[in-house]
Amino acid sequence: MPELYACPRCYAAVGPADDALHCGRCGTDYPSLGGVPCLVEDSPLWRSIWGSRLHDYLEVSGTRFEGLRREAGGPNLLPRTRQRIERVASALELDRTTVAELFADFVQNDPGVPTLLPSPAVHSGDPSLLQYSEHLFRDWVWGDDESERSLSLVTRLANGRRLGKLAVYGAGTGRLAFDIQRTLEPECTLGLDLNPLPLLVGARLLRGEELELHEFPLAPHSEDSVALRRRLRVPLAPPHGLRLAFADALRPPVAPGSLDTVVTPWFIDAVGADLRTTAAAVNRVLRPGGLWLNFGPLRFQGPLATLYLADEVEDIVESCSFTQRAELEEDVPYFRSPSSGTARIDRVFGFAAEKIGETALVEPPHLFAPWLSNPSLPIPFGPAMPALRKQSVFTVGILSMIDGRRSIRELASALGSQWGVPPAPLEEQLRPYLARLPFD
Ligand SMILES: C[S@@+](CC[C@H](N)C(=O)[O-])C[C@H]1O[C@@H](n2cnc3c(N)ncnc32)[C@H](O)[C@@H]1O
Repeated sequence: MPELYACPRCYAAVGPADDALHCGRCGTDYPSLGGVPCLVEDSPLWRSIWGSRLHDYLEVSGTRFEGLRREAGGPNLLPRTRQRIERVASALELDRTTVAELFADFVQNDPGVPTLLPSPAVHSGDPSLLQYSEHLFRDWVWGDDESERSLSLVTRLANGRRLGKLAVYGAGTGRLAFDIQRTLEPECTLGLDLNPLPLLVGARLLRGEELELHEFPLAPHSEDSVALRRRLRVPLAPPHGLRLAFADALRPPVAPGSLDTVVTPWFIDAVGADLRTTAAAVNRVLRPGGLWLNFGPLRFQGPLATLYLADEVEDIVESCSFTQRAELEEDVPYFRSPSSGTARIDRVFGFAAEKIGETALVEPPHLFAPWLSNPSLPIPFGPAMPALRKQSVFTVGILSMIDGRRSIRELASALGSQWGVPPAPLEEQLRPYLARLPFD
């Protein structure tokens, strides 16, 4: 196979191996993690962030496991209830081992370097390690009809056009990339994603391995569907020419103008960038006459001005030097697990657009702020900082007083004289504050 990847910094070719890669031009090293090349900018930082998310997952799931064991040993439980709790606990325990093993390359065990900092408190926007794990079961266990539906959307939108060198953005588990390469036979298919779990599993399966993990369906009705032990495997031999990589699709590891087709399934509203940035990035990577095949719902997040509707999407795509060749809108079942008590139907909007010219370069956002990638730059004092600082000072003050003996009244009195504020209103404010802290 020809060299597939380019250095995302300087676009020198760095293929074709699945192993660690090195850019001969700018000198950047790109490691292989779980057998998947990691072609993201600042791969050491990306890897240690996901390493710390693994650590959080193991801590939280370990605590939950202990909690479930205690719950199962509690009095007054129906035998069936006890059994159900034990079932979930065992499933959790087995999955922890499998997940830790999948992420082994993300753990940096240097015995000479002690761990000096605790994990920061997880904030609401921080993705969990298990985000998108439900895709694993749909794609490699029970969702063949959903996979066929996605493939049919690609086939209809492509309408017989030559697909050439193709990339799937937000490839997830790699299932659509697998189906495209197997049935539509482009020259090659690159599946790019930034979220490791689905891609780590997909890469294993594509190497011919099998894996067991538990599916925890939503709203289950019977004991055996609370935690289902699933065997994941590829349904057919993997085709030649399919490659997966950890990569930012907005800064893809391929040279500008080098792809014939870009497929964005359930991606443009999930990528976290303004559609104009995404459209410009897709334009840049395609050769003149190249094809952009998009489909998925329009569930954009962010300011109202960026929650685009179908007509606005069309306008933006055309303003980025594309001409629309086909369009579709239909209802598509999404995550219809046979064991789940609930399912989703998405109104899918799709188009095929051909690149008719170059568009003005819109610089895609960097994965990490420059001061994170370059530790010698000053850390900005952002607008959220004063509130965060104030909150931390208060939290430290309050937590340092909790010793298992003091009451709220005693805390209010001690903190009131420390901070020079009256204790009575402080007492009233401490109650809702403490009510929201996790004590169990
Ligand atoms: C809604 S999921 C869709 C997954 C899959 N295409 C499907 O149809 O089920 C969106 C995917 O986009 C990925 N993604 C988001 N931002 C990305 C980026 N900048 N580069 C690559 N992948 C990204 C996510 O990790 C996730 O796998």
